[in-house]
Amino acid sequence: MSVSQLHQRLSETGQCHLLQFWNDLQEEEQLALCQELQAMEFKELNLFFQRAMEDFNRSASQEKVDARMEAVPREVLGSITRDRDRLQEWQKEGFLQISQNKVAVVLLAGGQGTRLGVTYPKGMYDVGLPSHKTLFQIQAERILKLEHLAEAQHGKKCTIPWYIMTSGRTMESTEQFFLKHKYFDLKKENVFFFQQGMLPAMSFEGKILLEEKGKVAMAPDGNGGLYRALGSQQVLKDMERRGIEYIHVYCVDNILVRVADPVFMGFCVQKGVDCGVKVVEKTNPTEPVGVVCKVDGVYQVVEYSEITLATAQKRTADGRLMFNAGNIANHFFTLAFLRDIVNIYEPRLQHHVAQKKIPFVDTQGRLIKPDKPNGIKMEKFVFDIFQFAKKFAVYETLREEEFSPLKNADSQNGKDNPTTARHALMSLHHCWVLNAGGHFIDENGTRIPAIPLSTNGESDAVTADVNDNLKDANDLPVQCEISPLVSYAGEGLEMYVQEKEFHTPLIIDENGVQELMKNGL
Ligand code: UD1
Repeated sequence: MSVSQLHQRLSETGQCHLLQFWNDLQEEEQLALCQELQAMEFKELNLFFQRAMEDFNRSASQEKVDARMEAVPREVLGSITRDRDRLQEWQKEGFLQISQNKVAVVLLAGGQGTRLGVTYPKGMYDVGLPSHKTLFQIQAERILKLEHLAEAQHGKKCTIPWYIMTSGRTMESTEQFFLKHKYFDLKKENVFFFQQGMLPAMSFEGKILLEEKGKVAMAPDGNGGLYRALGSQQVLKDMERRGIEYIHVYCVDNILVRVADPVFMGFCVQKGVDCGVKVVEKTNPTEPVGVVCKVDGVYQVVEYSEITLATAQKRTADGRLMFNAGNIANHFFTLAFLRDIVNIYEPRLQHHVAQKKIPFVDTQGRLIKPDKPNGIKMEKFVFDIFQFAKKFAVYETLREEEFSPLKNADSQNGKDNPTTARHALMSLHHCWVLNAGGHFIDENGTRIPAIPLSTNGESDAVTADVNDNLKDANDLPVQCEISPLVSYAGEGLEMYVQEKEFHTPLIIDENGVQELMKNGL
């Protein structure tokens, strides 16, 4: 396509300002801009903008979503504490499906890690564990371990393929990182990288913004960009080819995530649902997690930014928050459901509007860094498809065992940062050692007291409420890290620790038990 043809297309769709600085550009910059613009569907983009803004303005003028929210009904709920007698059965089902190669995992890793403030993908972050493992490595090792556990139970080799969604900004570095680390011992052909789409940022008037004279301001299209990418990047095809039936989708930032958790998978399979979600009890009204609920009778997640404080603070007679099903971004889907989403429903999903401060080049060619929102980014959310589920279930688990997200830098705020993530993992592993009959001793040989029992009151397991235990930064957890290659969820540790005493820091990994101080490491 010639420049004049491109100009014509842009004029027809009200975006010809994008070529305003054409004559200021070097030849290679012109080429790059030309390629970028040729790949864009301006009519579709204008339609996305129009629909997203209509929806945004409608919700702003309408009564708040709060009035239309209902808590999740008891009959769709399963719980790690209330359904203890069913857990084994669900786990068995999950392992059976894994052993038959019917389970896959999808990692959402296309975000930009803006709050954490790193320029590389969040999965490459090292939160400072004794082993210095990154989030990607921890997740890879959990997959490997699950495959081994399923193999041991069913006597045959199996694979859990790992589909990793990246974006234009994270694809190359993610792939390089896996290559450098030899796919953390997973087979290369079972790790599949794919890219979500990007959308241009737009002014409130619907004009696409330039971040440089020859470069459009682009951003990933939200984690719900997954569904378009599943089709366009041949991911569904690959799943079909492998005979996958059940898929676990999760976010990169949760250091405690139980990837392809057999209990959650088995629960959803036995309930016969096409869509399921894992939650933890939200106990603090201002915690930044979405809540799973019904709105106008349809399941959805209401994000923390969409709910008023008054509604977030509402409590039931037993003192718990009324909307307490905190979304931890762990989803179950059947392949059949995903196929319908990709083929039928995805185009019907509206983009959410995020008003942002977007650096842009003004009409005089100056780079402006605005101090208040000057435009929008459009995003779809991964849970936007709950509304299409024929049968839906919610599985409630324990925060201290399964949820500690890495969102912020240590410097920013006392929550959801590298320190809380590291402490959450070590506190949990400390509990695993105690549960398996091990003990920790201090430098004088005195036993370190066990962490108080969890407040849920229904579990005999020794569990630590990390948030309570870490109010004081000096209140450090016992330094203990167990490799996922040794234990997926606390199982199988007796042979290493029963009736033994350990100094900290303690690492248990494929090389055995290492007390780092003793070994002078
Ligand atoms: C997300 C959930 C929120 C939940 C919280 C729990 C969504 C939309 N919101 O919020 O309900 O309570 O996690 O921690 O899921 N990502 C992409 N592509 C994108 C944007 C994000 O793949 O374009 C990925 C990120 O890499 C990350 C995940 O999606 O793995 C979550 O993104 P983030 O923006 O951190 O979501 P939260 O606002 O924390």
